[in-house]
Parts: sequence; C-alpha cells; structure tokens
Amino acid sequence: MKPVISATGLWTPPESVTNAELVESFNAWADRWNAEHEADIAAGLAEAKTHSSVEFIEKASGIKSRYVVNKSGVTDPALMRPVIPERSNEEISILAEIAVKAARQALERAGRDPKDVDAVICAASNMQRAYPAMAIEVQEALGIEGFSFDMNVACSSATFGIQTAADFVRAGHAKSVLMVNPEITSGHLNWTDRDSHFIFGDVATAVLVEDESIAPKDHWKILGTQLKTKFSNNIRNNFGFLNRADPSGEGAPDKLFVQEGRKVFKEVVPMVSEMIITELDRLSLKPEQLRRLWLHQANANMNRLISSKVLGHEASDDESPTVLDEYANTSSAGSIIAFHKHSADFKPGEKGLICSFGAGYSVGAVFVEKAG
Ligand code: COA
Repeated sequence: MKPVISATGLWTPPESVTNAELVESFNAWADRWNAEHEADIAAGLAEAKTHSSVEFIEKASGIKSRYVVNKSGVTDPALMRPVIPERSNEEISILAEIAVKAARQALERAGRDPKDVDAVICAASNMQRAYPAMAIEVQEALGIEGFSFDMNVACSSATFGIQTAADFVRAGHAKSVLMVNPEITSGHLNWTDRDSHFIFGDVATAVLVEDESIAPKDHWKILGTQLKTKFSNNIRNNFGFLNRADPSGEGAPDKLFVQEGRKVFKEVVPMVSEMIITELDRLSLKPEQLRRLWLHQANANMNRLISSKVLGHEASDDESPTVLDEYANTSSAGSIIAFHKHSADFKPGEKGLICSFGAGYSVGAVFVEKAG
C-alpha cells in the first residue's frame, strides 16, 4: 500500500472584508467603548482603546483582506462577532456543510464516487460541538460508508490529518481517506483585540489521500511526512466544556484566540526551518530539488524568513506563493489553499513541500512529487 494525494478541494465564502472596512469598524467600536468608559478612563481606572491601522496590518502581516461566513456581524461595532443562527439537530451543521462543499470538489477532481471512500477525517482548529463528530456528519451527507472522526492540532491539523490518512492507507485500514478542514476562525477571533483582530479568515479545504493503485494518473506521490509538537502558551484558547464549572471566567478574552505574536514569530521560524532541513536530509533531497513551498499562511514576513533559511536565498512568489493577502490566516487550511491554487503548473517528477505550523506549538511537513 502506497499513500498518495489524489486531489484537493476548496470552498471560499462569498463575503470578504478589506483591511479598510475592518479598521473602520474596529475604530468605531473603540470610540464607542471609550465614550462608554469615559469616567473610568479619566479616573485612570481604564485605559482608552487605541485605533487600529491599515498600514500596520499590511506591513506586520501581509494580510489585505479575509473571507468570512458572516460579514454584517463582524463589521458591526455593536456586535463584533459573526451572526450564525443555531440550526436544528435535523439540519447539517455549518462546519460540516462547508467541509462537504470542499470535499465534493476534491472527490469530483479525483473522479471518486463517495461510496468508494473508506474514511473521513475532519481536521480543524475548532469543532462545532463535542459530539457527534463533524466528520460523521460529513460522512452521512456524502453517503460514505466506513469510519470517521475529528481531530484538532490547531493550525497544523491538515498536515497531521494527511499523515494520519496516509498511515491508514499504509496499514491497509483504508484505501481512500477524505480529510477535510472546515475553518470558521471568525468564531474564535476576538474582533475587539487590536493586536489580533486582523489575523483570521474563514474557508474550507479537502484532501483525498488514497492508495496509489486506485488514484488518478495525475496524483501526488507522498515522499515523506514529519510531525513535531512542543508545548507553548504563546498561542492559546481556553474555551472548553469546563468553563461553566467556574462562571467567573465565562466570556473572558482568554476563551477566544490569544497570542504573543512576536514570541510566536521568533520561536516558530527556527523550529520550522530546522525541521524542514532535517527532513530534506533524511529523504536525501537537496533544497534546490524543491520547486515550491506551500507554507502555512499566517504571516508573510515569517514565510519569507522560513523559505530563505530552507532555500538559501529569498524565495520568489513562484517558489513560495502567498494566499494570506487575500484569505488571511485560515488556520489549518492555509497551506492547503496555497497547494490547491498554485500546483496546476507542476510537471511529473517536480517536488514540493506542504508545511504548516501553529498552536501547540505544532509543525507538520508533507513532501510531495507530481506523478503522471
Ligand atoms: N494597528 C496599529 N498598531 C498596532 C496594531 C494595530 N492593529 N496592533 C499592534 N499595534 C502596535 C503595537 O501596539 C506595538 O506598538 P509599540 O511598538 O508602540 O508598542 C507595535 O504595533 C508592534 O506590535 P507587535 O504586536 O509587536 O507587532 P508585530 O510586529 O509582532 O506583529 C503580528 C504582530 C501578530 C502580525 C505578528 O507578531 C505575527 O504575525 N506573529 C506570528 C503569529 C502567528 O503566526 N500566529 C500563528 C497563529 S495560528
């Protein structure tokens, strides 16, 4: 059994928010907050909120816009959160729904009938609920038999999901595994936090990992995968089922995404580049044999540093394509969007690297080669 990537799928929400729109609503929210807390601010009991800036966002992150499942809520200074009505238990959940959209595209591209898929892995940074698993909902919606489960490795969920799927194929437990990454990060983003309100966007991606014997001719060989984790508090979200056991903490900012962005930047760049270089060596590959790096899409400056450490020179857009300018950080989906949108020009034998990194810390690398 030899696992390969048969196809990928992408679903992009129809609504997008530019930095100018985002900053306008943030600044309106900050002005309202300052007016409401005028007395406390004057008495030195509260600190006035400072305006955000488009120039800062673009320079510090490279992000220019982000797609969201609900624009009206996240840009409303009175709300600053997405508006997503609850659904009945008889309806498909929104996360499963967007996963199915991306999955259908991957299945279609591979020419795969859902009946011939053996397993579904939903690998994402936020789950719709504790149970039943989103993956089982996706399985049901597509008419897939077999087994399904959810897994969460934050921004690295997709690469960890690819290795997990590949291991199932290698072990003979499945011949066709659908791995989906629905990310509604607008739900965990604190839209009132100036340091991070610009970071995230929503999307869904899908990757079909299959045994070479059933894969389409133009599949991607998996040359090797490597995963690594190292505990860090620098990216954290304390939301969880025990929150209600101490109501004093409910609704506090730490129940949403929180990060020490600068520390993350400094600590994750060497961790990622060292892992890639070690893995290249283990696979007897030279950096110049990598035609392209499809890196996690969190920060353009971070990607510039990682790719120059790995390649030994500043990477061109062709060598390290960027999608975060349009999509922002879509957590686990980022490197898969980059791969999906920037891989059609590969010729048989050309090699590349899908690489993710994020909370945990967690790093995942998947080295691929175009077959055909
Ligand atoms: N608008 C204007 N100014 C802002 C701002 C905003 N929205 N947010 C922060 N600033 C200011 C800060 O107040 C600070 O001002 P000071 O120097 O006067 O104190 C200055 O900009 C620098 O802030 P800092 O937070 O150190 O910025 P940074 O250069 O580290 O960039 C990130 C912030 C988040 C873009 C960057 O750290 C990053 O992307 N890190 C990696 C994050 C990552 O990959 N996370 C993974 C998530 S899964």
